[in-house]
Amino acid sequence: MKLTVNGGTSLLGEVKTQGAKNAVLPILSACVVCRGDVVLHNCPDLSDVRSAIKILEHLGLIVTREKDTLIIKCGQIKNCSVPENLMREMRSSVVFLGAILASCGCADISMPGGCELGPRPIDMHLSSLKKLGAEIKDEHGRLKCRVKDKLCGCNIDLWFASVGATENIILASALAKGKTVITNAAREPEIVDLANFLNACGAKIYGAGESTVVIEGVDKLHGCEYSVMPDRIAAVTYLASAAVTGGDVNVLNVKREHIVSVTSLFEKAGGNISFGKDSVRLKQKERPKPLYIVKTMPYPGFPTDAQAIIMTMCALSSGTTMFVETIFENRFRHVDELVRMGANIKTEGKVSVVNGVEKLHSANVNCTDLRGGAALVLAALSAEGETKIDSIYHIDRGYEKIENNFKALGADIKRISP
Ligand code: UD1
Repeated sequence: MKLTVNGGTSLLGEVKTQGAKNAVLPILSACVVCRGDVVLHNCPDLSDVRSAIKILEHLGLIVTREKDTLIIKCGQIKNCSVPENLMREMRSSVVFLGAILASCGCADISMPGGCELGPRPIDMHLSSLKKLGAEIKDEHGRLKCRVKDKLCGCNIDLWFASVGATENIILASALAKGKTVITNAAREPEIVDLANFLNACGAKIYGAGESTVVIEGVDKLHGCEYSVMPDRIAAVTYLASAAVTGGDVNVLNVKREHIVSVTSLFEKAGGNISFGKDSVRLKQKERPKPLYIVKTMPYPGFPTDAQAIIMTMCALSSGTTMFVETIFENRFRHVDELVRMGANIKTEGKVSVVNGVEKLHSANVNCTDLRGGAALVLAALSAEGETKIDSIYHIDRGYEKIENNFKALGADIKRISP
């Protein structure tokens, strides 16, 4: 599948953001530790979500979808092993480890490999689960885990505020004996959403969204009805489409506090940002101004997931911006594709220097990863002529009906079979 985009038109109008991919995935894995019915609203239909559902079904849970609501019948899981093909479909499948272990006292999953963003070690996930009482052996690329008696609460200090490790610890310790205290926990809003979901199921989790999270283990967790938080990165992507096309886009279903580190940069670039109740609007009248330096940081800093998106805006700006990527080792693979479209960008290790050009031009380009793919769609929307974007399965991991949303804003964009 490819996207073809005939760009150069200012985008105008309103678009509603989907539910957050990075919140729904850990919440789906949390269903493994619940017993009863879970009704999950605002659940985006994404390939990563479909992969998580396949894992749940393999474990014996029954999942049905009605529009954007998932109904999950959670019972005792039938097996604790996840086949390699299902694990490989989705990088974040490692978040099932803590949940499966807590649910049935054993887990057998394949070791996740590297990915398009570089090596993705899980040492903090494993050392934390070991501290909670799991025995873990790496046998030919499969992780064989078991708990002798029950997982037991403890103090866990993370050397880096890893999102996935914090989620795995919360999932594993929700049913553990006693109290777990995570120090230097990740503070991302998706962690808060996971904790709110689990608390609605009867868990006792305190301090999510802060650096210290306390989990008092409970005996069992029931089902609940819950609505997934809005996707802050999708929101930023639609706002950026106004910035790169000189447009006026109002994004609905977004929380101001989740995106201020990015909206402040849109303002710095000369955009007019206004917040409504659960909505954000960006009007861009002039060519974007340079941002000089953008450094990715854990939340509440500037998110690595928005780096490629904001880079496209800077590629069109009237000056120079230096991007410093501090979270992932290999997150500039979209740069070569932007250069094919006329961008002037030089990369050295963790730094990319972007010298803005007046216009990008159309080209045939290839998505290198999810957010890099979104950055190419933005570049294509700004560029006159037809751009063909290949390998859009990356984009489909995280954006629901991206072409329909941009079409509604006036873009000429189509999905075509090869
Ligand atoms: C999550 C998000 C991803 C986002 C990232 C950072 C999901 C599904 N994905 O990924 O979109 O870009 O947070 O905000 O929510 N690390 C280790 N050892 C570990 C764990 C992590 O060295 O045990 C390193 C990673 O290699 C990476 C950094 O820590 O360099 C950040 O990783 P982490 O916060 O864990 O990101 P993810 O949970 O994988």
